[in-house]
Amino acid sequence: MGLQIFLFLATLLFFSHAQSDVVVSSILQLRPRSGAGGHRVHGVNCLSWRLAVETNNLQGWKLVPMSCETYVGNYMLGMQYRLDCEAVADAAIEYAKTVKPAADGKDVWVFDIDETTLSNLPYYARSDVLFGAIAYNDTRFNEWVAEGKAPAVPGIRRLYLAVQSLGFATVFLSGTAEKFTDIRTSNLHETGYYNWKKLILKGDDQQGKTAVQYKSQKRTELVNEGYRIVGNVGDQWSDLIGANVGNRTFKVPDPMYYIA
Ligand SMILES: *[C@@H]1O[C@H](CO)[C@@H](O)[C@H](O)[C@H]1NC(C)=O
Ligand SMILES: *[C@@H]1O[C@H](CO)[C@@H](O)[C@H](O)[C@H]1NC(C)=O
Repeated sequence: MGLQIFLFLATLLFFSHAQSDVVVSSILQLRPRSGAGGHRVHGVNCLSWRLAVETNNLQGWKLVPMSCETYVGNYMLGMQYRLDCEAVADAAIEYAKTVKPAADGKDVWVFDIDETTLSNLPYYARSDVLFGAIAYNDTRFNEWVAEGKAPAVPGIRRLYLAVQSLGFATVFLSGTAEKFTDIRTSNLHETGYYNWKKLILKGDDQQGKTAVQYKSQKRTELVNEGYRIVGNVGDQWSDLIGANVGNRTFKVPDPMYYIA
């Protein structure tokens, strides 16, 4: 069902943009193109904005600029996002193959969940969310999470299965509240993720902490338990900085929101 909505939206957005591109390019034929598919935006170059976001040059931003909502929607629902995610998986698998896991089962890959292993895109594509151009609403987002219908992020399940078959253990480390443990577990199972060593969600005792503090603490606990974090995969820089980040980190694209 999630996938159907997703494909429907993808098709809808792709074709509506393809059509408006024709109009734009016929009016401005000789001018250089910018943004996704030649979309020009006033005041902000959305491709530069997205690059700044992905490189963590821009930090603490609260909203996708409204003038980039179409651009971000086009990126997320179109081919480029899928290709970018597949490229993350390819790079991570290349690296994973160079490491030989020890027989003690303590070599782990840490995966974030939202926008890393499970996609909230059907939610973010809604007209009351606009790919993050409308302010985050905790109540509404949690209602979506409680449905347990998030699809897998393209490419990352392939990575997850690849590292498992190479002999690594997997750990999920997510800022989702612990009360969602059951629904998250079934959502992960339904999208093809199995056999993880740990599913770490955010307990009430952690609620005051930033993502960097919380995730650093949980990774440090893993290391103290004897785990060696070989790879660490997340869509937020707060997944990939702080203490014990692991030998290699891999950033999955996410131009829709920023978590410190
Ligand atoms: C958030 O969403 C809930 C549920 O739809 C709604 O009742 C509430 O007014 C929203 N809050 C804001 C600040 O928009
Ligand atoms: C990971 O990093 C640690 C600490 O720097 C190092 O001792 C270990 O050899 C590294 N492991 C791999 C697989 O690169």
